[in-house]
Amino acid sequence: MSENGCAILEVKNLTTVFETREGNAVAVDDVSFSLCRGETLGIVGESGCGKSVTALSVMRLIQRPGRILSGQVLFEGRDLLELSDKQMRMLRGSEIAMVFQEPMTSLNPVFTIGDQLTEGLLYHSNRPWTEAYETAVDVLARVGIPDPHDIMVAFPHQLSGGMRQRVLIAMALVSSPSVLIADEPTTAIDVTVQTQVLRLINELKGELGMSVLLITHDLGVVAETCDRVAIMYASHIVECGSVRDIFYTPRHPYTVGLLSSIPSFHEPKQRLTIIPGQVPRPTNYPVGCNFHSRCGYATENCVSHQPQLAAVAAGHAVSCWNTAHVTLPENITAHRR
Ligand SMILES: Nc1ncnc2c1ncn2[C@@H]1O[C@H](COP(=O)(O)OP(=O)(O)OP(=O)(O)O)[C@@H](O)[C@H]1O
Ligand code: SF4
Ligand SMILES: [Mg+2]
Repeated sequence: MSENGCAILEVKNLTTVFETREGNAVAVDDVSFSLCRGETLGIVGESGCGKSVTALSVMRLIQRPGRILSGQVLFEGRDLLELSDKQMRMLRGSEIAMVFQEPMTSLNPVFTIGDQLTEGLLYHSNRPWTEAYETAVDVLARVGIPDPHDIMVAFPHQLSGGMRQRVLIAMALVSSPSVLIADEPTTAIDVTVQTQVLRLINELKGELGMSVLLITHDLGVVAETCDRVAIMYASHIVECGSVRDIFYTPRHPYTVGLLSSIPSFHEPKQRLTIIPGQVPRPTNYPVGCNFHSRCGYATENCVSHQPQLAAVAAGHAVSCWNTAHVTLPENITAHRR
């Protein structure tokens, strides 16, 4: 059973590394979070902080030279890291589905969309082909594809980027998964389609009772679509809380830096501005806090001791030694009112 009553997915102390010529790159370090039934949890952070590797680790799709070093990924209380490859294949695409960051590489160029959509259904159930076909057409229609029968016989290269992205979402949703992991599902598509796709994921979440792990750079998307947010920095989750906690009472200096970089909730399409300073290299993270070289609140203790994620209020956890001193500047707070 899960320790957290509402959790469908619980990640505990996950550490994933890549062997590189420069040594072991720690992509994800001691990451823990839980996804409750029916909620959308956003994972936000700068490029390279470990968002995709976290998602791929949950799906057990990390390939050499990477490997999961330690941790647990509990889905409905079962540790996915303990399952056989066959059990994991059965679960992937049926119970847990993922929309990948790279839309072009996720579709097979030599098979029709129909073949790719029905393959999962036929693999995971004993349904007749005609039933699988009808289900696939229905899902294509629901993701906003106007002529689904025509798309079923099309090949990926015949579709626009926006259409391919919708097809990928349809592929993830076709077997009504309990958990959808969407890794930057809208970066490859134009802004209008982005909004439609995110609305669609939210609608389907309600209809299908899905839980969604949404990976994004975009704090505007988080404000619009998420219930809770985990902020990642250099392989760690540094803050986790409700959207309200994160946007109105952030307690980690990095979160404050991110929020200071977007002008207001009312201009939500801003992307994260880089905070001054360099992110440390994953082969050479410091002994203490990974953010210390960029942090205005750093003390000597931060250089030599790594902080751990700890509760600052109910449902709000922060990994920082000096969290009591951290507040959102008044001019930023005023913008959000
Ligand atoms: N195949 C690989 N070999 C070596 N290092 C890797 C590999 N894949 C990922 N990494 C490293 O793991 C770290 C986390 O990468 P990840 O792809 O999770 O970042 P991300 O947060 O998803 O970034 P982005 O926002 O750009 O997608 C990075 O330092 C990256 O260089
Ligand atoms: S632990 Fe120290 S360096 Fe790290 S974020 Fe907090 S104040 Fe800054
Ligand atoms: Mg990524």
